[in-house]
Amino acid sequence: MAGAPEAMLRVQELLQAAVGAAVARRRVVLLAVAFYLAYATLRLLVRAARFVHTYFIRPDIDPKTFGSWAVVTGATDGMGRALAHQLAQKGLNIMLISRSEPKLRECAAELKERYGVDTRWLAADLCKAGPETYNPIRAALQSIEVGILVNNAGLGPIDGVPEYLEEQPPQFIVDLVTINCLMPTMLTKMVLAGMRERKRGLIINVGSIIANFDAPLVAAYGASKRFLDNLSVSVNAEYEQFGVRVQNLWAGSVATKMPGIKTASLAVPSPATWAAAAMRQLGREDSITPYWVHAVIDGMMRATPTSVLNRNVRAAMQQKRLEAKQRKAA
Ligand SMILES: NC(=O)c1ccc[n+]([C@@H]2O[C@H](COP(=O)([O-])OP(=O)(O)OC[C@H]3O[C@@H](n4cnc5c(N)ncnc54)[C@H](OP(=O)(O)O)[C@@H]3O)[C@@H](O)[C@H]2O)c1
Repeated sequence: MAGAPEAMLRVQELLQAAVGAAVARRRVVLLAVAFYLAYATLRLLVRAARFVHTYFIRPDIDPKTFGSWAVVTGATDGMGRALAHQLAQKGLNIMLISRSEPKLRECAAELKERYGVDTRWLAADLCKAGPETYNPIRAALQSIEVGILVNNAGLGPIDGVPEYLEEQPPQFIVDLVTINCLMPTMLTKMVLAGMRERKRGLIINVGSIIANFDAPLVAAYGASKRFLDNLSVSVNAEYEQFGVRVQNLWAGSVATKMPGIKTASLAVPSPATWAAAAMRQLGREDSITPYWVHAVIDGMMRATPTSVLNRNVRAAMQQKRLEAKQRKAA
């Protein structure tokens, strides 16, 4: 009966082999986890380093490299006014476009006096499409060498209050699409030939973080800013070969009349703080969130599952709408 010990030996061998294989498998799994953790940490460190470099270290591009004149729409208030100040401070001559003549006169005089630059202004209602608006703007743009065009003027939700699409007045939607989408397209078209000829130029479109997400209760506004995103990257892809750049700036909340926020904070900067941040990113990435806190908020929102984000954004918008209605009724 020599078969029994042999069988025992065989079982023992098999058991040892199985244990050996399990240990080897565990080692492989541990190694894979270690590699993954090292890779994830490295990626995080690279992203953090890139973030710090982008927002705090790399040098600014001199806006004068694009030309001597900057045209800013919506230049008499909020972010446009702050951008006009930043550009004039860097020595660019400024053409201001918005509706109110007294405000235009006052802003142009202020820029001239404070920074010693040339200024021109044009009163135009950018919600009105047609030759009566296009022709004077085209003539004004042709009278100078436009280095930078800032398509900033835009319409947001009425009085900054979110609203269901069915409740928004039809004329408001027409105005919103006209000023947010059509006018930046037309003004861009007007300056492209000159910029192409001079082989330099920068078109800045002031967009919104909201373009990156679903936008319940501000649907038309969100969609208009997504249009602007696509216009920017597409025209940039078309014209960068000719030395003309188009840059899209994703803004988060800024303390201006449009959202009706009076007090600035870390998450809601003043127009001056936002414009200074925008200047640091001028001419860099095709699309960028210029203010670092907005970039962090944008990143956190992107990391949130859409269904969770939508539920929370919708609830916040509905609450804001309700509060505005209650305030109005009181
Ligand atoms: N503030 C924010 O939280 C925020 C966030 C994301 C994106 N944005 C975008 O940033 C841009 C500027 O917003 P803002 O908050 O600085 O606005 P704002 O403070 O309300 O200033 C609007 C400017 O545009 C001019 N304007 C308004 N309607 C016009 C029209 N029909 N034709 C020509 N000019 C007109 C105004 O001057 P007149 O009244 O004299 O015409 C004023 O100079 C907009 O495109 C907006 O969508 C703002």
